[in-house]
Amino acid sequence: MGTLRDLQYALQEKIEELRQRDALIDELELELDQKDELIQRLQNELDKYRSVIKPATQQVHKQTELHEQQRTKRQAISAEPTAFDIQDLSHVTLPFYHKSPQSKELIKEAILDNDFMKNLELSQIQEIVDCMYPVEYGKDSCIIKEGDVGSLVYVMEDGKVEVTKESLKLCTMGPGKVFGELAILYNCTRTATVKTLTNVKLWAIDRQCFQTIMMRTGLIKHTEYMEFLKSVPTFHGLQEDILSKLADVLEETHYEDGEYIIRQGARGDTFFIISKGKVNVTREDVPNGEPVYLRSLGKGDWFGEKALNDWLWNGDGTTYKI
Ligand code: CMP
Repeated sequence: MGTLRDLQYALQEKIEELRQRDALIDELELELDQKDELIQRLQNELDKYRSVIKPATQQVHKQTELHEQQRTKRQAISAEPTAFDIQDLSHVTLPFYHKSPQSKELIKEAILDNDFMKNLELSQIQEIVDCMYPVEYGKDSCIIKEGDVGSLVYVMEDGKVEVTKESLKLCTMGPGKVFGELAILYNCTRTATVKTLTNVKLWAIDRQCFQTIMMRTGLIKHTEYMEFLKSVPTFHGLQEDILSKLADVLEETHYEDGEYIIRQGARGDTFFIISKGKVNVTREDVPNGEPVYLRSLGKGDWFGEKALNDWLWNGDGTTYKI
């Protein structure tokens, strides 16, 4: 039989055990809340992608038919048909609205935090920051109505809004968030309703400014790429429209000194033209043996051409190293 003292001791132990379990439950509940939050955030991102998939696909067809030469890469951009050329756009003066360094930083960070806009060039982000003008709404105002034609993209500086779709709440958003970008980027109607939960301060940019910034950068890049392609001796005989198609699909990639561009035996799917720097071509004749130096390539030289001839190319036995 245990004494009273033994029983008190056992009780103390049980109480301590319970306390530790409670602490563990609290910890797990916190972890669960964080996971729930992450799931909710990812679900929202997924919903946003879903809402624009259809219009975006339609746009691709429309764009292919109307403006094959105006294809854009790596950045979300409205595919609205346009008759602008670089001359028209270089004369457009964009409005400028003064703002504090903190507001500029907030807008820039909001754009970089947005999945649909984070791949814009920094120069484009800078232009968007300069063009944005202040807008204010009181509590319980409707800023965006689902199904409407949209003309503004917003960045929230202060306050809180609620996003709903078909009357179901999707999320709330606070300062440093972009909204209203989908209708402008994908040229579709507003995919959700955005209402204020408090007084809000926003920055806004209109569709026309936004698209001028997008197209101007695209056209400037296209002109730059055309000039570069024309300077490559191998392409001298090519017609302007062929060069233009090449310029459309050209993408700039940077490699560090000593980095491998193509490894021997790797599947090739890219054709490279050197615009700056020097590349060494080597080949390993024996597996894991010393690579044998074959030649050097410089500005205007190209490699990886077999990738263009044969999609399933299995490597031409050479390695290209900067
Ligand atoms: P837009 O479609 O132009 O107008 C409504 C905006 O609500 C939309 O752009 C997005 O910025 C935002 N939005 C739409 N769906 C979601 C979602 N699932 N989660 C968060 N924001 C969304």
